[in-house]
Amino acid sequence: MNMPFRSASLYSKMFERRTVLIAGGAGFLGSHLCERLLRSGCQVICLDDFSTGRMENLRHLLRFDTFSFIRHDIVNSIDLPIDEIYNLACPASPVHYQADPVQTMKTCVFGSLNLLELAVRHQARIFQASTSEIYGDPHVHPQPEGYWGNVNSFGPRSCYDEGKRSAETLFHDFHTRHGVDIRIARIFNTYGPRMRPDDGRVVSNFIVQALKGQPITVYGDGSQTRSFCYVDDLIEGFTRLMSDSVTLNVPVNLGNPVEFSVRELAEQVIALTRSPSKIVYKPLPIDDPRQRRPDITTAKQELGWEPSIALAEGLEATVAYFERQLVRPNSELVEVV
Ligand SMILES: NC(=O)c1ccc[n+]([C@@H]2O[C@H](COP(=O)([O-])OP(=O)(O)OC[C@H]3O[C@@H](n4cnc5c(N)ncnc54)[C@H](O)[C@@H]3O)[C@@H](O)[C@H]2O)c1
Repeated sequence: MNMPFRSASLYSKMFERRTVLIAGGAGFLGSHLCERLLRSGCQVICLDDFSTGRMENLRHLLRFDTFSFIRHDIVNSIDLPIDEIYNLACPASPVHYQADPVQTMKTCVFGSLNLLELAVRHQARIFQASTSEIYGDPHVHPQPEGYWGNVNSFGPRSCYDEGKRSAETLFHDFHTRHGVDIRIARIFNTYGPRMRPDDGRVVSNFIVQALKGQPITVYGDGSQTRSFCYVDDLIEGFTRLMSDSVTLNVPVNLGNPVEFSVRELAEQVIALTRSPSKIVYKPLPIDDPRQRRPDITTAKQELGWEPSIALAEGLEATVAYFERQLVRPNSELVEVV
């Protein structure tokens, strides 16, 4: 199902466009990034194995003659003529990354290695989608980038947490040994349209349950806190971090520092959807962190970035998306760009 990319180097030369490879471009965040970069005039090659990504996230982008996609597993090496790389390829929700933990670890380690080697070959700047999970169940609040974390190396979440930590180490070593221009975003919980309804993440879970009038499942007593960043804010942070004017070759937290308890989130979703759903409480999963909040001082100072979309506003757009999805699952097909 590849859409052969149209001689990227030829396009770039003719129009002096940057050719950007987005690994994991068919996923939730990746598809928004593809859209943003296409709109800004880049040639975009989306590379994805479609394990959690979906074609319907991309269909509305096919009208851009500067867009192409390739089905490929980054665990295997690849060569393409590119100027920049974004590595977002990795399942992000626990349900999906725990389904095949060895593949998750391979994606994080071999996948990053392959893309870093590609960056060396083409002297390309490369971005890594890291995660707040590298802080584990943190003992420091909020978490600054200098905090080394509290991570279990031997549990169901370890394939993702330790995989992402190893990927950061590879980025560090390619920067110091090969001079690769690396950019690393430690992403905190992000939500918005194009999350999968079945991915088990807290925002999509609550919205789908509320819209279906099902009980809203809160794990633990709901007092654990999370910070939720709307996808548009996050993508703005990605592009700022990758810009020429920035030379940050160290990890940067990107997320919304405004903290909500999981119970508060459930109550907001119920109110917004006017759902008859009631909250039910279940035991906390193993290694579930009690509290997460980014310290975004670096992003503010170095990128001039901070989230601007409040939870209520972002939830409204996300609920509208899921309403369309539940009525008409392929509604992205008719989305107007
Ligand atoms: N969404 C968040 O809140 C969040 C938080 C922290 C970090 N991240 C990171 O951001 C990135 C994107 O997350 P997302 O929420 O869009 O997840 P997602 O699951 O929607 O997207 C991941 C994409 O990567 C693809 N993929 C997975 N393994 C691959 C492989 N081996 N080769 C090629 N493609 C592969 C999937 O098919 C999918 O399209 C991930 O790396 C994730 O770890 C996301």
